[in-house]
Amino acid sequence: MRLRTAGELASEAGEAEEAPQAELDHEAAPSTSGRQRGRTVHGEAANAGHRVLAPDDAEVEAYLEQALHVAPPQRGEEPPTGPDTVVILDFGSQFAQLIARRVRELHVYSELLPHDTPWVEIERRAPKAIILSGGPSSVYDDGAPAPDPAIWSSGVPVLGICYGLQLMAHQLGGEVASSTKREYGPATVEITGEDGLFRGVDRLQPVWMSHGDRIVRPPIGFTTTAQTETSAYAGLADPTRSLYGIQFHPEVVHTPAGREILRNFVIGIAGARPTWTPESFIDTTVAEIRAKVGHGHVICALSGGVDSAVAATLVHRAIGDQLTCIYVDHGLMRKRESELLRATFAENLGMKLVMVDARERFLRRLAGVEDPEEKRRIIGDEFIRVFEEEAARLGQIDFLTQGTLYPDVIESATAETKAAAKIKTHHNVGGLPADLRFSLIEPLRYLFKDEVRSVGAELGLPEAMVLRQPFPGPGLAIRIIGEVTAERLQTLRDADWIVIDEIKRAGLYRSLWQSFAILTPVRSVGVMGDFRTYANVVAIRAVTSEDGMTADWARLPYDLLATISSRIVNEVAGVNRVVYDISSKPPATIEWE
Ligand code: XMP
Repeated sequence: MRLRTAGELASEAGEAEEAPQAELDHEAAPSTSGRQRGRTVHGEAANAGHRVLAPDDAEVEAYLEQALHVAPPQRGEEPPTGPDTVVILDFGSQFAQLIARRVRELHVYSELLPHDTPWVEIERRAPKAIILSGGPSSVYDDGAPAPDPAIWSSGVPVLGICYGLQLMAHQLGGEVASSTKREYGPATVEITGEDGLFRGVDRLQPVWMSHGDRIVRPPIGFTTTAQTETSAYAGLADPTRSLYGIQFHPEVVHTPAGREILRNFVIGIAGARPTWTPESFIDTTVAEIRAKVGHGHVICALSGGVDSAVAATLVHRAIGDQLTCIYVDHGLMRKRESELLRATFAENLGMKLVMVDARERFLRRLAGVEDPEEKRRIIGDEFIRVFEEEAARLGQIDFLTQGTLYPDVIESATAETKAAAKIKTHHNVGGLPADLRFSLIEPLRYLFKDEVRSVGAELGLPEAMVLRQPFPGPGLAIRIIGEVTAERLQTLRDADWIVIDEIKRAGLYRSLWQSFAILTPVRSVGVMGDFRTYANVVAIRAVTSEDGMTADWARLPYDLLATISSRIVNEVAGVNRVVYDISSKPPATIEWE
């Protein structure tokens, strides 16, 4: 099997695979917020500080990172060796990660590095090519971001995109005119050059533009390869020095030939070999883990999410029984999830799995608590206590496996993981005994989420685990409005099961970012048979989203909604009314608490 690309996974899922319009708009406005661009390490809006922010497994990991008192993972450590590499220098574009993903979709490994990465650091990666991203700056801004000039004479093929092209022109002796007027949105480009970048691409191409400044005179040695009505130099090339630039954005879907152009550059011009596949990743990673762990012992906290599941499976493949997984069943999971986890890891994969039934403990601590943030704090705190007890029982442990993903690494360029810091302020939890020290194993730290899913599938993990919708760390506790009790959990679990069951039956599960039930504290009057009822209202939430940052309510078919509603009212005791949430995010959030 080859690596399924973001595009393929998204289109399998029937999802739009592009950055939403809001993000495109953001690109147009010059950013003043630097690299973080108003986002946390997990891509959430930074002002959403009331949340336990990490999606999926990351939350558990952040607790652990803090609790174990280990230093944060070394950023900028040795990258994996082996595959041909494309280095992407990030000049602050909203699309920088997208460029990295697009290159990986060509089965070529790519790394996104800060724009000012010194040449020695770039050279150490032996890149086959370098891509300069766009960015909100003007080359004339004070302190305008610029690359190490050594890249221009390195002989490594360079492709400048948007601001990247303007930098190339400016730094190599051409002329860039600053402008207060932006060319923003769709445009038609006419390909005029015959260089390899546009091989096989029709002469007239719809493209996406987003720039203010424009090139008025190319540097000596460059020829024009593309133009639009407003940009005479929408494409430049100096093939003898392997320097190429385009004013438009090939990485967004609004530039349909963008993938072809990137392929021409990465594989055609730079000669990178498309060998970045799940199989090759698994082989290399398993060998690396084996070498690192030796005869040591490793633990991994399984959260039920895809990241920790894939990380644990990789480590298990490398070192077998030297790995022990710990699963803390806090009783806030959906129906049958804990069973699926046991069946998959202990029975099918033969892993050493410690399942801790902590349901009573969590319920006791959550009794009487209605405030959502208090619920989150308690759940985080209790998780650490249980994990700590179990880890201590296992004796000597040398390594802790975490499912950190590449976007976390990219956004954590400032060494300390901000997720851990944020959790700390919200969850003033204790750590493990000071004499317990683990090193970290983070086998997924160079993967995007869709690549993790591909690797998971290749490792033989069941689809139900690999392709499941995101689930918040605090689980059903934040989908029960008000107090969490065993009875209310049961009600929600049963209603939620029906929602998922019917959505899967309708073939819509993968096209939705999330779909679930919420148990509201509202009670309303109903009639059942000859009886008047006064029972709870269940809300259904189903959203489409690219990344959880923004979301739209899903236009589920009426028939499907009717079936879900009638099944819930008939099959779930204590519910007599079902409503559908038609709010988008913003202004609403995806979760209700
Ligand atoms: P909201 O509700 O903020 O959710 O629109 C955005 C995404 O984050 C998930 N979410 C959480 N994930 N811990 C998590 O690990 C949390 O406390 C939490 N709150 C929300 C939510 O499910 C959605 O995917």
